[in-house]
Amino acid sequence: MTSIATDISRIGIIGTGNRGINCFGALLSRRNDAQVVALADSNPLRMEAAAQQIGQAIRCYNEPEAMLKIEALDGVVITTPDFQHARYVLAALAAGVRHVLVDKPLATNVADALRIERTLQEVDAQLAIGFNMRHLPIICRIKEIIENGEIGDLMLIENREFYDGGRTYMARWNRRYEWSGGLWVHKGSHDFDVFNWWNAGGNPVRVSASAGVNALRPDKIPFAVVPDKPVGPHCSACAYAGICPDYAPISSPPLYNAQTSQADGYWPDLCVYLSDKNTHDNGIALVEYDNNVRASHLECFICNFTDRFYTVVGDRGVLMANLENPTQIELRPRWGENKIIDVPLPDAGGHGGADPLLVENFVASIQGQRLPSSNVRDGIRSVAVGQAAEIAWREQRTVEVSELLDTTVI
Ligand SMILES: NC(=O)c1ccc[n+]([C@@H]2O[C@H](COP(=O)([O-])OP(=O)(O)OC[C@H]3O[C@@H](n4cnc5c(N)ncnc54)[C@H](O)[C@@H]3O)[C@@H](O)[C@H]2O)c1
Repeated sequence: MTSIATDISRIGIIGTGNRGINCFGALLSRRNDAQVVALADSNPLRMEAAAQQIGQAIRCYNEPEAMLKIEALDGVVITTPDFQHARYVLAALAAGVRHVLVDKPLATNVADALRIERTLQEVDAQLAIGFNMRHLPIICRIKEIIENGEIGDLMLIENREFYDGGRTYMARWNRRYEWSGGLWVHKGSHDFDVFNWWNAGGNPVRVSASAGVNALRPDKIPFAVVPDKPVGPHCSACAYAGICPDYAPISSPPLYNAQTSQADGYWPDLCVYLSDKNTHDNGIALVEYDNNVRASHLECFICNFTDRFYTVVGDRGVLMANLENPTQIELRPRWGENKIIDVPLPDAGGHGGADPLLVENFVASIQGQRLPSSNVRDGIRSVAVGQAAEIAWREQRTVEVSELLDTTVI
């Protein structure tokens, strides 16, 4: 069922977990131009807790398709595990929803992403991706500097990402390639989108990558294991809870607790050392563009800090920035004085203040005031680089992006 947007946009959320509720649900319910009117989740207890947390009259559905059929929604937010994104984007479009925000990645593979694009060509709808990094002032300022020609023609981009929370991927659904598309798709899609966005004149054409699990594996358990006293299987039940330095029991009540986990058997605090993972805890990917630009992305999920360090090189200068210090960019012209460029801090909010701006953009796009900050092509391009990186490390070869696409130009 479709609706005509009024002053208050009626939003449904599919996937009422951390991102769906603690980010989108919370931010939307604080606004006076939008209202979360319906939720859908396969876990009824979590959905109930989510509805209470939002605190407004909300209808709940175990079947997202039923929500889409019954509710008159102006917009839908999709925050299920990644492998369900394509299914629910297509369902929302088929139900006539005109504004869909799917959190990143658009899909876990290019074939599904292209199916979404083909469907979008047949309906009157807008799709946005949860690329919140596009709303970070420092990322936007770097794009401006590149586009103003202040470092000349772009040559190289380097990003080193350290993510403290990344170890929890190995405790949750993210650890499985078939559910997340692998971490180059799940996590790297943010970074590949930034590269693609900054290098707007180029298309990613070739990807090589190396990745693996070096730290979060059984032989690296950081304490002595006593015979007949098994480790795990998850933190809340582990006999070594008192001594494990990575002890992290389910920590997001009321959405995640023993009851919501018992409801569907999903325990998001699996032992990060023993879990049945088939993704990586560290890796490096190299992306080549058709405009003679190269980019590298290192990601490491076992460190005790979170940061992204950028070096962007043009033929007339270099800029450096890190997200831990998001108010300054160092610019070193090839000829001339080095300078520090100040960047305003965004208001408070998740992901360095980017999440409220992403939500603001989504609501404004529903109300016809702005275009979404990303579109299906952006989603396809970042999934394409991520999937190419997955194939590259798994098959130990360089992957042509065109292998994944109908056409060489994406
Ligand atoms: N943009 C960002 O910065 C960012 C950050 C974190 C996560 N994400 C993305 O947000 C999404 C959700 O991640 P999360 O960490 O909140 O996960 P989560 O596990 O906390 O939440 C997922 C929810 O989906 C529900 N679900 C699972 N299968 C379902 C189905 N078939 N139908 C309906 N509901 C179903 C689960 O019960 C759960 O409530 C993912 O796509 C992830 O990649 C984006």
